[in-house]
Amino acid sequence: MSDKPIIGVVGVGYVGLTTGACLAHIGHTVVCGDVDVTKIDRLRNGEIPIVEEGLTEIVSEGISTGRLEFVVGATEVAERSDIVFLCVPTPQDDDGSADLSFIEAASAEIGPVLRSGAIVVNKSTVPVGTTVVVDEVIQRSDITVVSHPEFLREGTAVNDFLHPDRVVVGADDRSAAEKVAALYESIDTQVIITDAASAETIKYAANGFLAMKISFVNAVAAMCEAVGADVVDVVEGIGSDRRIGREFLRPGPGWGGSCFPKDSHALVHVAASHGYDFSMMRGVIAVNDEQRERMVRKVQHAVGTNDLNGMTISVLGLTFKAGTDDLRDSPSLAVIGRLRELGATVKAYDPTATGTLSLVQESFLSGISVQQSIDEAMSEGDVLVILTEWPEFTSLDLERAKALLSGSAIVDTRNLLDPQTVRAAGLTYDGVGRLA
Ligand code: UDX
Repeated sequence: MSDKPIIGVVGVGYVGLTTGACLAHIGHTVVCGDVDVTKIDRLRNGEIPIVEEGLTEIVSEGISTGRLEFVVGATEVAERSDIVFLCVPTPQDDDGSADLSFIEAASAEIGPVLRSGAIVVNKSTVPVGTTVVVDEVIQRSDITVVSHPEFLREGTAVNDFLHPDRVVVGADDRSAAEKVAALYESIDTQVIITDAASAETIKYAANGFLAMKISFVNAVAAMCEAVGADVVDVVEGIGSDRRIGREFLRPGPGWGGSCFPKDSHALVHVAASHGYDFSMMRGVIAVNDEQRERMVRKVQHAVGTNDLNGMTISVLGLTFKAGTDDLRDSPSLAVIGRLRELGATVKAYDPTATGTLSLVQESFLSGISVQQSIDEAMSEGDVLVILTEWPEFTSLDLERAKALLSGSAIVDTRNLLDPQTVRAAGLTYDGVGRLA
């Protein structure tokens, strides 16, 4: 392997594309491959298939400097690279475990054509022991497999990559781990080198802990409602303790997205398959499921009836959080699904779902009347429900809301609005854990 290894990336989803483009941005030569020919064609023209701040710019930069290239399939990536990042999906299987079929297929494809002495880097979130599985599929003594978990948040992934809290690399062969860690030489961060199983566990434990923080604050919010306290003050009071911190303590409709739901279930599953009942994590998941139901009950309470037949619900926000167009496992869609089951008609607005919807968006949003503006979504609604924390909803024009809605209630599941101001505008307000 030369001093400046060529990097390959297999799978250009959120993680693969960000990783490849950012590695090119910090000076590496990167070849990215994907089985999706249309996606590769679009990327070659600098078209980014996802909403991700800063990504378009660094992909264009990589293409124009010649350091970032897109090819079809994994074989060419492996043939041309010294370090190959596997960034393929690990979806949740029916039993809660992670489905490794994409990882296994990619490993089988690259195995025979990898350069001698190459390093394969597992970037996908995988159960403990997958480094060994990949090694067994590749079946070559001249190849080392390394676990290198990512901690990128959608919406801020580029920034997270370039300014990480830490870089974790795990391998049973320390020199291979050091070669991967050396890719980040130009980034000022802490590098943690571990064995493979520890690195794999770090990823699950990090996501599990973060999900636990949110479930905890959502449970505290429920308690605040029961005892007549305000969760905003409570979070200020506990968050100022440096051991606790303020981050990841925003109450809401529960956590969602492409990582926390599948990783939390996988963590329970991995633990159980090794004989440990991770009951705390099961509780974290149960609180999250309950949180979505709590939001539905708030809507029922706001309109004064459990039967929502004939009701029109105006919804603001469809994505699982702000800053992304990702609808996967969105709490908003879960709540909307329940409202529709109860008979409601849902009119919704989201800043990333305007104009002609993509096929992916259509598949997630079928049955929802998607509107082009906040005003259109609010028009004739019996209740206004805010489900995603897009900044533009924070400055909602309450006079217009009052004029356009046929009802007078706001359910603010992200605590974006000031309860007093909403009430002063002649509307009722229900947030999460706020004083009545
Ligand atoms: C997460 C991890 O943060 C990241 O490190 C990992 O690599 C992938 O999974 P992401 O799924 O992009 O990232 O979103 P994140 O910002 O962590 O939010 C996850 C969910 O929690 C969202 O539904 C969000 O709305 C919710 N959330 C987050 C809260 O409800 N309250 C909070 O305080 C923070």
